[in-house]
Amino acid sequence: MTHISSWRSPSNIALIKYWGKHGIQLPNNPSLSFTLSACHTDMTMHVTPGSSNPQLNVLYDGNERPAFEPKIKSFFNRIADQLPWLLQSSIMIDSINTFPHGAGIASSASSMSAMALCLMDIDSQVNARTDELKNAAWWNKVSELARLGSGSACRSVFPVAALWGEVSGISGSSNSYATPWADHVSSIYHDYQDSILVVSNAEKSVSSTEGHELMSGHAYEETRYAEARKNIHTLIESMKTENAIDQFISVCESEALQLHALMMSGKKPFVLIEPASISIIKEVWRFRNETNIPVCFTLDAGPNVHLLYPASYKESVLGWIKTNLVPFCADGFFILDEVGTGPQKI
Ligand code: DP6
Repeated sequence: MTHISSWRSPSNIALIKYWGKHGIQLPNNPSLSFTLSACHTDMTMHVTPGSSNPQLNVLYDGNERPAFEPKIKSFFNRIADQLPWLLQSSIMIDSINTFPHGAGIASSASSMSAMALCLMDIDSQVNARTDELKNAAWWNKVSELARLGSGSACRSVFPVAALWGEVSGISGSSNSYATPWADHVSSIYHDYQDSILVVSNAEKSVSSTEGHELMSGHAYEETRYAEARKNIHTLIESMKTENAIDQFISVCESEALQLHALMMSGKKPFVLIEPASISIIKEVWRFRNETNIPVCFTLDAGPNVHLLYPASYKESVLGWIKTNLVPFCADGFFILDEVGTGPQKI
């Protein structure tokens, strides 16, 4: 018998950055992210358990992609103790991302969370358990599996916002899986905008995994983890109301700049931002000072700039992007995304 599952799962953008890990994908500091909407992966998985000669077949948009197989196989080996049928099954995976490959948008969060959702759904089918989607423990398990695929993916499975990693004073916070955070933030953050300015389409020169490794023995290692722990408390407080947006902005921008400062100040330094990223940052500061529109930036592990702002400023910000920021984007390309409602079974 073949089991089939299809899920749409979004990407996410960290406000407090996960940078540095230990053990099997455990974070060295807590992180907090917005769950996105437009940037997502659609995945369908076919699983035939009990196969005498199990095959893995990985497609992207209907075309064979054997290059993706080694990463998926090592993920499967890592989680096989939790899904006993996995290694004895023939599996076909077909997926597609809404954001173009080479747009510099990390696909691991959306694809690994989609994969965890399909696997957990199929696990329910294999074991003939129903109604599990409504169960909080089921979602924690999805988040945990996603984390084992890619750390940041564990935050993609919850609507609006997610917290990952132990935070003092927050019961239920865990290094193993993310905690849903929508109920802890003001309604202005439920449809917050994220306009992604694509400065470069080039492949990342340093992978996240290498970047995380460079945190061990970094001169600022302990200071950074202490800063992240302090920043997460400040951010959590600021997001409870719509009146502390200045504090929200100051933590977000500081986290983004710290992430890149850490890259530049390690034992094996590297630079991922581009001159255009800096020009955009300066223009954000100028525009915000001049107009009082509370737009701020954050950065991922790459040169692209995410502009974060309340939905009520959509029109003015879009006008400004078109006139002042598009010249800094590769081929004028940008993506209008926003905070979203989390994964969906399709
Ligand atoms: C800068 O989750 O991609 O985007 O766990 O090695 O797969 P792995 O790393 P990954 O790291 C993301 C780093 C970041 C910050 C963040 O998303 O918190």
